[in-house]
Amino acid sequence: MAVIAVFNQKGGVGKTTTTLNVAASLAMLDRRPLLIDLDPQAHLSLSLNVKGLPGEACASSFFLHGRPLGRLIRQLPGGIRLIPGHPDLSKADTVLGGVKGVAGRLRQGLAELAGEECPVLIDCAPALSVLTLNALFAADRVLIPLTSDFLAMQGLNRLEIALRVLEGPLGRRVERRIVLTRYDEEKTQSRDALATLKQRYGGELTDTKISDDPALAESPAHGMDIFAYAADSAGAHDYRLLTMELLSKGFFQRPVS
Ligand SMILES: Nc1ncnc2c1ncn2[C@@H]1O[C@H](COP(=O)(O)OP(=O)(O)OP(=O)(O)O)[C@@H](O)[C@H]1O
Ligand SMILES: [Mg+2]
Repeated sequence: MAVIAVFNQKGGVGKTTTTLNVAASLAMLDRRPLLIDLDPQAHLSLSLNVKGLPGEACASSFFLHGRPLGRLIRQLPGGIRLIPGHPDLSKADTVLGGVKGVAGRLRQGLAELAGEECPVLIDCAPALSVLTLNALFAADRVLIPLTSDFLAMQGLNRLEIALRVLEGPLGRRVERRIVLTRYDEEKTQSRDALATLKQRYGGELTDTKISDDPALAESPAHGMDIFAYAADSAGAHDYRLLTMELLSKGFFQRPVS
C-alpha cells in the first residue's frame, strides 16, 4: 500500500475536501481507499455521514488505548473505508506528548494491517501536533492542498521547514505534490499564486488546479462527495482529473524500497 498524508498546517486550505473527493474518485475506480481521519474536528467523517460514534470505535482509541487499526475500519457505501475521527483525538498531545518513539506509532500500526494493498489517505488537522507527526512519519508521500491567498502562501515557508525537520530522522526527502485549490482564473491573486508556485516547485505542483466551486462547499452538508452531489460540476471535473494525474504519476503506488 501507499500511505499519503494530506497535510498543510494552515487551516481551511482544502485538506478535507481533497481527501474526500480524491478518495471518492479512487473508489469509483475500484481502488478501495482507506481513509484515516486524524482531525479532532472529524470533518472528514462528518462529510461521509459518520458521526456520533463512541471514542472506542474511532482513531482516538488506537492512539490512546492501543486498539489495532484493523478493528476500527468501517466499510462505507460506495467503496470507501474509513477509520473515523473523534474529539478525543485532541487528548493525544497531552497524553502522548513526551512519550519516546510516539511519532512512529501510526507507521507501526499500519505495518500491522496485513494484506492491505489499497491506498491509505490520512486527513491531517491544521497543526503540527503529535497526530500530524504520526501521519507524516507514516506517509510515503505528502499531498499539500494550498489556496492562493496571502496567508496561505506565507505559510509555505513554515511548511517547508516542518518537512525538512522530518527529513532528518526519516533519512529521505519527503516526496510531495502541491495542489492549488479554490482557483479562480478571474482573480489576479489566483493567477499570481499559480505563477509563483510553478517557478518555486516545478514538477511538484500538480498540473491540475481545483476550481473555486460552491458545490464543493455544499456537498459535505448533504453527506455526499462531489460526484454524488454534483457530478457535472467544475469541482467534480477537477477532482477526477487530479486523481487521474496522481494515478498516472504513480502517486498511489507502493514505493519501491
Ligand atoms: N475548491 C473549493 N471551492 C469552494 N469551496 C471550497 C473548496 N475547497 C474547500 N472549500 C470549502 O472551504 C472550507 C475549508 O475546506 P476544508 O475543510 O477542506 O479545508 P481544511 O484544510 O481541511 O480545513 P481544516 O484545516 O480546518 O481541517 C470548507 O468550507 C470547504 O467546503
Ligand atoms: Mg480538514
